[in-house]
Amino acid sequence: MKIICNHTTIIVFISSIFFPCLLLATDTITPTTPLTINQTLVSEGEVFELGFFDPGNNNLYIGIWYKQIERRTYVWVANRDSPINSLSGKLTIGENGNIILVNQTENVIWSSNQSVPAVNTVAQLLDSGNFVLRMENDENPENYIWQSFENPTDTLLPGMKLGWNRKTGVNQFLQSWKMNTDPGSGDYSFKMNIDGFPEVFLLTGTTPLYRSGPWNGRRFSGVPEMKNVSLIEFEFQNNSDEIFYSFEMLNNSVYSRLIMGSSGLLQRFTWVESSHTWSEYWFAPRDQCDGYMKCGPFGVCDANASPVCKCMAGFRPKNQLAWDLRNGSDGCVRSSQLDCGSDGFSQLKNMKLPESSKAFVNQSMNLSQCASICKSNCSCSAYANTDITEGGSGCVIWAVDLLDMRQYADSEGGQDIYVRLAASDLDQSPTIRTSKDGSSKNVAKILGITAGTFVVITVLVVLFYLRRKKMKRLRNSSINRKGQHERSQDFLISEGIVVQTKKDYSGETTNDELDLPLFDFMTLVVATNSFSDENKLGQGGFGCVYKGILTDGEIIAVKRLSRTSGQGIEELKNEVRLIAKLQHRNLVRLLGCCIEIEEKLLVYEYMEHKSLNKFLFDKERSAQLNWQKRFDIIAGIARGLLYLHQDSRLRIIHRDLKASNVLLDKEMTPKISDFGMARIFGGDQTEAETKKVVGTHGYMSPEYAMDGLFSIKSDVFSFGVLVLEIVSGKKNRGFYYANSQLNLLGHTWNLWTQGKALKLLDDSIDVGFSEDEVLRCIQIGLLCVQEHADDRPNMSKVLLMLSSDVVSLPQPKYPGFCLGKRHHEIESSGKQDESLTLNGVTVTILDGR
Ligand SMILES: *[C@@H]1O[C@H](CO)[C@@H](O)[C@H](O)[C@H]1NC(C)=O
Ligand SMILES: *[C@@H]1O[C@H](CO)[C@@H](O)[C@H](O)[C@H]1NC(C)=O
Ligand SMILES: *[C@@H]1O[C@H](CO)[C@@H](O)[C@H](O)[C@H]1NC(C)=O
Ligand SMILES: *[C@@H]1O[C@H](CO)[C@@H](O)[C@H](O)[C@H]1NC(C)=O
Ligand SMILES: *[C@@H]1O[C@H](CO)[C@@H](O)[C@H](O)[C@H]1NC(C)=O
Ligand SMILES: *[C@@H]1O[C@H](CO)[C@@H](O)[C@H](O)[C@H]1NC(C)=O
Ligand SMILES: *[C@@H]1O[C@H](CO)[C@@H](O)[C@H](O)[C@H]1NC(C)=O
Ligand SMILES: *[C@@H]1O[C@H](CO)[C@@H](O)[C@H](O)[C@H]1NC(C)=O
Ligand SMILES: *[C@@H]1O[C@H](CO)[C@@H](O)[C@H](O)[C@H]1NC(C)=O
Ligand SMILES: *[C@@H]1O[C@H](CO)[C@@H](O)[C@H](O)[C@H]1NC(C)=O
Repeated sequence: MKIICNHTTIIVFISSIFFPCLLLATDTITPTTPLTINQTLVSEGEVFELGFFDPGNNNLYIGIWYKQIERRTYVWVANRDSPINSLSGKLTIGENGNIILVNQTENVIWSSNQSVPAVNTVAQLLDSGNFVLRMENDENPENYIWQSFENPTDTLLPGMKLGWNRKTGVNQFLQSWKMNTDPGSGDYSFKMNIDGFPEVFLLTGTTPLYRSGPWNGRRFSGVPEMKNVSLIEFEFQNNSDEIFYSFEMLNNSVYSRLIMGSSGLLQRFTWVESSHTWSEYWFAPRDQCDGYMKCGPFGVCDANASPVCKCMAGFRPKNQLAWDLRNGSDGCVRSSQLDCGSDGFSQLKNMKLPESSKAFVNQSMNLSQCASICKSNCSCSAYANTDITEGGSGCVIWAVDLLDMRQYADSEGGQDIYVRLAASDLDQSPTIRTSKDGSSKNVAKILGITAGTFVVITVLVVLFYLRRKKMKRLRNSSINRKGQHERSQDFLISEGIVVQTKKDYSGETTNDELDLPLFDFMTLVVATNSFSDENKLGQGGFGCVYKGILTDGEIIAVKRLSRTSGQGIEELKNEVRLIAKLQHRNLVRLLGCCIEIEEKLLVYEYMEHKSLNKFLFDKERSAQLNWQKRFDIIAGIARGLLYLHQDSRLRIIHRDLKASNVLLDKEMTPKISDFGMARIFGGDQTEAETKKVVGTHGYMSPEYAMDGLFSIKSDVFSFGVLVLEIVSGKKNRGFYYANSQLNLLGHTWNLWTQGKALKLLDDSIDVGFSEDEVLRCIQIGLLCVQEHADDRPNMSKVLLMLSSDVVSLPQPKYPGFCLGKRHHEIESSGKQDESLTLNGVTVTILDGR
């Protein structure tokens, strides 16, 4: 037993002899020294602490947290599903030798519930975070009767095992808390499936949402990020006793934990001592392609392609119509029937292996034996190595449909897989292609082979001419007309927003009942003082926004839409319901609506501090934004945007992200506003209103402003501009530096290349900032505004770069719109062909050609 005395005075020492329970902090509970409500156990090296806690739901739980981290981070909870409702309780060793938790009336609330051979047991909290029950004088102190590491809650600590014990038949897995204030067993779990070729599934109930892919000797086949980790050593073991995944820290003083979050996100956090924060090191699901079965049977998801779903060579979409509407869930079917004897195999690279619970594994075969087994078995549809280390070994074959495959951009992820094809399909190119891609590739081939350089040059000249013509038209008219074309490609557009319907995860349909409050028109008239001018907060493209006070005192913001929407009332209500479901800390919340024949109003939460631009570009108020606040605002906007781009059920491109569309609440938490308006407003958006908002100058990416191409990467551009504005406190539009022609982007670029980037920081910030952090933000800003959309990171990358100083950032290339439009026009006009193959959700506007 270890005694820690914080107070070394003699008085304390003496009193501790007489009242040991009050002052001793130890790491052990014995039958005579129970743990009462105001005491804690502290592990020997003071790494972890165990005690009673109230997570905020007025119940008491026994939990383990990090001793050294001030903000409580719970890594384990004993009685997660049987809380103590009274004010007091006790953790002790019961008469049968088990650890028991009793409430005020001495009823047993929770127990380690083992059959204990003898009663002289003690419970000890170890520095690993493991809370163990053992015999008091066991020769082998690691002979545990019971341990918390074998009863995980939502957190995997170093040394803990996630997997199956063949002896006891127990499958240890992570299960989320119900919510932040309730450690009860929640909906999400992360659990190993030991059938076939084992892998770990993220489930809601029993429905898979994401899977790691099988272990390929180095990492999980679907987690390429595990390749470049220097701090952590991952382990996967399969032997006659057990099969598990676990990890160890190479430096024991670095804290890292994997957590199954209550919102369904699997996250690894690492403690950053210098900034006293948990930094998100990794998370999943990360993008659309991580969504289970995104592209159906035999479909392949490629996050860098648009659309993301593809069919392998030799396959075609099963449901072409749905496929064209970006719904890949029906998957692909073979172009030609198989004929067992003559079939061959096509090799696909960098693939996350298909769902493997029904796969057949033989670790002692090599690839050529594997091939011949698969070839001789007519129902075998694919084979691969089980282990990619040392040139590859082992054999896995699938005699089922290939489900949930994805392809990575390079050898950073995935591995080779060989898929059975009819001999007639084998002649085709072995690479994966989309159905549309294929034809454009053929066109390119034909062009390349039959047409000479002359033709190519002619085409370029014509394109150049057309583009100049289009530029003129673009500047004169609005970007509106494109709407019709874009819509015909499954996009809804209006004021600055594009919405693409994302495949819904089956798990999400359960909470569809969530209903949107309908406000009575008169209520809103009264609340806003008859929409009086004094209550007017601002005017957007859709109509005016008013401050309102409901009779119960709640303050709201009411957006009164102009009356020209072409949508039916029911349709409109449905759209509002959908948008209202988009809830995120960094999005303004839609509280309800009022839709009557003449009037359409949306009710939002009211934002105390109005919009970011009112602070940022105001001499006096900008001083209130110290560096930490600015950094938090940048991170918050990034999270909100990531949610819109990837994590929400509807995939939304904002298209008009700017400082005035970022609102701030009491705590200065940034909230993105005006998202999802296209859906609410209906497809037939009127022209007059859209002009004002679509593409605010200074925030528009080059490919959008010039070619009408928009994608998540054009939002990233706007985000980059916003980051630089937040750092500098200066508007991009209308920023001129010392008579130079440069805008903010050009100015930043110059400072960056001269190594003087810190000069960009707003003059009002002179203390309390980390130079590293400022420079990182500037670099991220520059990476986001790079001229070519392909070069810009996506928002999940941006967040990773923001949240961790471990990741090394690439060097930014030249920003778009650095020197003004004229210069840019000439420079980029030769790149017309590139714009057709942009990544992400990309639509090319062909009107007038
Ligand atoms: C625990 O501490 C709190 C505050 O220090 C005190 O109000 C409470 O009475 C204590 N409870 C017990 C059981 O000692
Ligand atoms: C203690 O737990 C028992 C059984 O759950 C319950 O009946 C009793 O009311 C609890 N006592 C208090 C003081 O809450
Ligand atoms: C203890 O374990 C037995 C079987 O192993 C089970 O039936 C019982 O419900 C458990 N009791 C508690 C309190 O968990
Ligand atoms: C992984 O690390 C290597 C060298 O440490 C580096 O060259 C490579 O770019 C990194 N890859 C990623 C995806 O970060
Ligand atoms: C795991 O180990 C068991 C027992 O040793 C073996 O039967 C099984 O084939 C192994 N599975 C894999 C995927 O290696
Ligand atoms: C381990 O990490 C700590 C804290 O980050 C650091 O101070 C120490 O130098 C590291 N030790 C090694 C061997 O890298
Ligand atoms: C695995 O392959 C080896 C070598 O071909 C063979 O001897 C063995 O029987 C196979 N094991 C199973 C379970 O098929
Ligand atoms: C695979 O194993 C077979 C049988 O053990 C052997 O004959 C063959 O050479 C091996 N092939 C390779 C490529 O190692
Ligand atoms: C083909 O392989 C599957 C999966 O291993 C197996 O179930 C089936 O019996 C095999 N068929 C033949 C004809 O060998
Ligand atoms: C995609 O299509 C499937 C069936 O073809 C349908 O069940 C599903 O709801 C569709 N998903 C979306 C998001 O439209």
